[in-house]
Amino acid sequence: MNEGKKTFYITTPIYYPSGNMTIGHTYTTVAADTMTRFKKMQGYDTYFLTGTDEHGQKLEKKAAEEGLTPIQYIDRIVAETKDLWKLMNIQYDDFIRTTEERHTRIVQQIFRKFYEQGDIYKAEYEGMYCTPCESFWTPTQLVDKDGVKVCPDCGRPCQPMKEESYFFRMSKYQDWLIDYIETHPDFIQPAKRANEMLTNFLRPGLQDLAVSRTSVKWGIPVDFDPRHTIYVWIDALSNYITALGYGTDHDELYRKFWPANIHLVGKEIVRFHTIYWPIMLHALGLPLPKQVFGHGWLLFGADRMSKSKGNVVYPQPIVARYGVDSLRYYLMREMPFGADGNYTNESFLIRMNADLANDLGNLVSRTVAMIEKYFDGKMPAWDENAPDETGESLRAHCAALPGLVEEQMDKLQFSQALSEIWKVIGECNKYIDLTQPWVLGKDPEKKGLLGNVLRTLAECVRYTAVLTEPFMPSTPARIYEQIGLTDPELKTWDSLKTFGAIPAGVQVHKGEALFPRIDVEKELKALSGGKAEKEEAKAEKKEEKARSKQEKKAEKKHDEPEYPAEIGIDDFAKCKIQVARVTACEKVEKSSKLLKFTLNLGADGERTVVSGIQKYYDPAALVGRQVAVITNLKPAKLAGIESQGMILSALDDAGNLKLVTVEEGVADGALIG
Ligand code: ME8
Ligand code: MG
Repeated sequence: MNEGKKTFYITTPIYYPSGNMTIGHTYTTVAADTMTRFKKMQGYDTYFLTGTDEHGQKLEKKAAEEGLTPIQYIDRIVAETKDLWKLMNIQYDDFIRTTEERHTRIVQQIFRKFYEQGDIYKAEYEGMYCTPCESFWTPTQLVDKDGVKVCPDCGRPCQPMKEESYFFRMSKYQDWLIDYIETHPDFIQPAKRANEMLTNFLRPGLQDLAVSRTSVKWGIPVDFDPRHTIYVWIDALSNYITALGYGTDHDELYRKFWPANIHLVGKEIVRFHTIYWPIMLHALGLPLPKQVFGHGWLLFGADRMSKSKGNVVYPQPIVARYGVDSLRYYLMREMPFGADGNYTNESFLIRMNADLANDLGNLVSRTVAMIEKYFDGKMPAWDENAPDETGESLRAHCAALPGLVEEQMDKLQFSQALSEIWKVIGECNKYIDLTQPWVLGKDPEKKGLLGNVLRTLAECVRYTAVLTEPFMPSTPARIYEQIGLTDPELKTWDSLKTFGAIPAGVQVHKGEALFPRIDVEKELKALSGGKAEKEEAKAEKKEEKARSKQEKKAEKKHDEPEYPAEIGIDDFAKCKIQVARVTACEKVEKSSKLLKFTLNLGADGERTVVSGIQKYYDPAALVGRQVAVITNLKPAKLAGIESQGMILSALDDAGNLKLVTVEEGVADGALIG
């Protein structure tokens, strides 16, 4: 064991092996791998855990559909998953499967402990269950879709469920957790997700959670009551400690690596990781992970890609055609970690050309070609007598680059980290244009200066190669080969303390282009197998559908107007928008959409407004809040009630309506403008 070395433990979610892993699962796994490689390079003792979440009704059903036992079905998917991670150059330390005895035994032990210490009790459960998401929902959490109550996460119908169940007293830990989140601002990242958890789940009050099922057979049995199986999320979340040997005689890894530094998860499962999991750990008397980072979704068209929705992109054909590093680069570069982004073949191909073939590829090939041409392929020595003022700022910038990259990586801003590296690459290419080595090369007097320019470039290339290694693990070796770098000591993080470390005289080798330029149009056709146009039309239609769905969500009373490019101030002035305080709010009977508001407008008195936001807000929670209302809108009858105005709201990232409000200190009735 490396005593004294700092440790770094990172996890991905354990994925459902209900189908093959998509580019979405690949996204999280590449991010975890990149982070691990970065920390390892910096000298941390790292541990990277991934795996599969193998229990639950959904898997049981999937296997049955194919005439297989669950484990037969799952074994095949797990084998393919491991192949995919190999293909993606993922270096995990452990791959845990929740059907392994090392896991199931400890989960039973954990469950029993909860029961024995009174955190779990037995009762009758009645509620709605979403099988694809393996989630219970209370009636108020369900969303109305064309008269059907559907899952707020995936939009599919839920089934009523009534059975005997064990319950976890979540409410008992609610105040502790609120306090913990409020006093540990780094615990949930990005910070806005912490607010979501506090506002949507914790402050309204936690319900006790049903943590066992009698109707699900494919699960870990409760050992003291084997008619019950343990709820999949209690089972799954425990993986982060069972994999380390927690609760066994061989818990060295647990003692060394827990608490985890980062649980990386998609934003849809932040709730499980920042409410149930901390409460479980606290009840066990264990410390909490230092951070749960909820990243955004890779979208496909306007929809979240998901196995259960069937609109999926798989990485294998992309890797086969363009190599693993191109895809890894794209995934980490294209969207800020935390935000959603669209996967399109086009944006991928454009980035390959612009960032990899042009910026990086050209820099390396031009640098090497010029050293070959002007110095017989031997790295020139620094010439103290030929000062290169043009390169001063570039050298300073490059020397500072490791720090800039580290700063972004510590915030998991992969895309920003790459952008810092590419700024230096861009500056190098500009530097070539400014110094014009081909002109210097014609003048024997300028040989020293030319040498300094080329060395500066070669050294910047070295920095770039070292720093991109966590993202693109197989590209640096090809760069080192070209710039003639063999000494392993010059390929390390520590070697970046010294700008100018490449020894004079090493032999460069012009090789193949690192990333060949591609014909985007041609590749687009190839990737869609000639069906490009058909797909495009399909995508367009889908987008249209999604858009109209969004509009419906906004419950607009009239068609979305075509906005004019500009309007005069007098047009705007026609709208009377005022601050109002909600003095009463209730559901409109017989409507699943409408809420009836009583609003106080200060000197302008009270009025009634009906708004279609029932599924987004608990009416009681709105009383006392200030909202923005258009008060001179012609009244309209909604569900028989006259609505005297319109409350302003906006859609958030997840497609939920959020009310527009004002900062504190504004009087009721105040004009907005
Ligand atoms: O939720 N964009 O498993 P899962 C971004 N078993 N990330 C995506 C993605 C996309 N389109 N699609 C998948 C489960 N992911 C549970 C987890 S953990 C104790 C149990 C990634 O197979 C992302 O990390 O549905 C997301 O959270 C995860 O895969 C969901 O995988
Ligand atoms: Mg999921």
